[in-house]
Amino acid sequence: MNIIQLSQDELQAKHHELQAQYDKIRAAKLNLDLTRGKPAAAQLDLANELDGILEGFYLLQDGTDVRNYGNILGIPEARELGAALFGVDSSNVLVGGNSSLTLMYHYVVSMMQRWESHTVKFLCPAPGYDRHFTICEQLGIEMINVALNDDGPDMDEIFSLVENDDTIKGIWCVPMYSNPTGHTYSDQTVKRFAQLGKVAGPDFRIMWDNAYTVHHLSDTPDQLANIMSAAVEEQTADSIVLLASTSKVTFAGAGISFLGASNANLAEFEGYLSAQTIGFDKVNQLRHVRFLKDMDGIAAHMAKHKDIIKPKFTLVEEKLESSLGSKGIATWTKPHGGYFVSLDMSLGLADTVVKLSGDAGVKLTPAGATFPYRNDPNNNNIRIAPTYPPMDELAQAMDVFVLCLELACVTHLLNR
Ligand SMILES: Cc1ncc(COP(=O)(O)O)c(C=O)c1O
Repeated sequence: MNIIQLSQDELQAKHHELQAQYDKIRAAKLNLDLTRGKPAAAQLDLANELDGILEGFYLLQDGTDVRNYGNILGIPEARELGAALFGVDSSNVLVGGNSSLTLMYHYVVSMMQRWESHTVKFLCPAPGYDRHFTICEQLGIEMINVALNDDGPDMDEIFSLVENDDTIKGIWCVPMYSNPTGHTYSDQTVKRFAQLGKVAGPDFRIMWDNAYTVHHLSDTPDQLANIMSAAVEEQTADSIVLLASTSKVTFAGAGISFLGASNANLAEFEGYLSAQTIGFDKVNQLRHVRFLKDMDGIAAHMAKHKDIIKPKFTLVEEKLESSLGSKGIATWTKPHGGYFVSLDMSLGLADTVVKLSGDAGVKLTPAGATFPYRNDPNNNNIRIAPTYPPMDELAQAMDVFVLCLELACVTHLLNR
């Protein structure tokens, strides 16, 4: 039954029924959380072997003792792992500490010394990852929204903006299983990104955050074209900065991160970093290499993650479909990987739904968080993060969420 087509009397009756259900749930004082894309405890347990895996063997093949200072670009073995992950040469890889976000932040700061114009702008395909936007906000970089389609950002819009404004110095991309929509950029989109460096200035950077590159939920995973190979062909390699980490492979708070860049860019970034560290945690890098080994090892490990979280995504899809499927008030993504489901409302009431859910004990990512300046121009996007709660809590939280969504819509239609 499409809610938008109900008569006033039907809406009144529906509102009565939903409000009664909502009041009952509120009285139960739930405390459920669907906010952040965190791995569940069972996923973290998969990598417990990391503890103690070194058993006193701290020496690399070349005799380096990982407990000591040095190797700011990372140990060779971990750089090889990053190279395999990115599909580049290991000489183009830096291995960092536990957070790729930190590398992104520092990379942008390192570029600020080069960007001489008073105004610096970044393009932000949206909905996107809130913490990318926070970096810009904190560093005083102006953000410009760009539409994000199923095959990636609107490339015509991007080219036109970049060609006409040389204060635009970068763009944030989550090219595979994007946060929050779960979409993967098409080959054509990747090719056009590789060409973007030709029209942008030499200090323009594409922040290619491949956070979910091995995080498949399907047996037929999405394929992402290799942007660095394409950029080398187009002679735009300096415009590309690759990023990834093992945060959602091993331990979210204690993994290792990777940055991939041209030799010139990497040397410059190394110079910037060397003022703040003599080297990242190499013991952890070695632990990770011994545990994950290579791309086959990573794939085998990620298959175990899939076994744990796929049922959660299936549950979310079933709850949304059975409760909202025919009502004409929301659409949502069905991701083949990554950590999120992105839901769009047709009536633009995202903030109301988040508030109603919160009041009923189900915490959701704040409305607007997936847009620059926390401002969703249509107030319709809600990010659902299913991985962290156990199945029973997730089911309960989704029941409350869909009820709140329907209640918000019926109330709105009644009061029109
Ligand atoms: C797109 C994206 N990039 C980066 C991160 C954080 O990465 P890290 O843990 O390596 O800092 C996240 C975490 O949610 C993410 O969704």
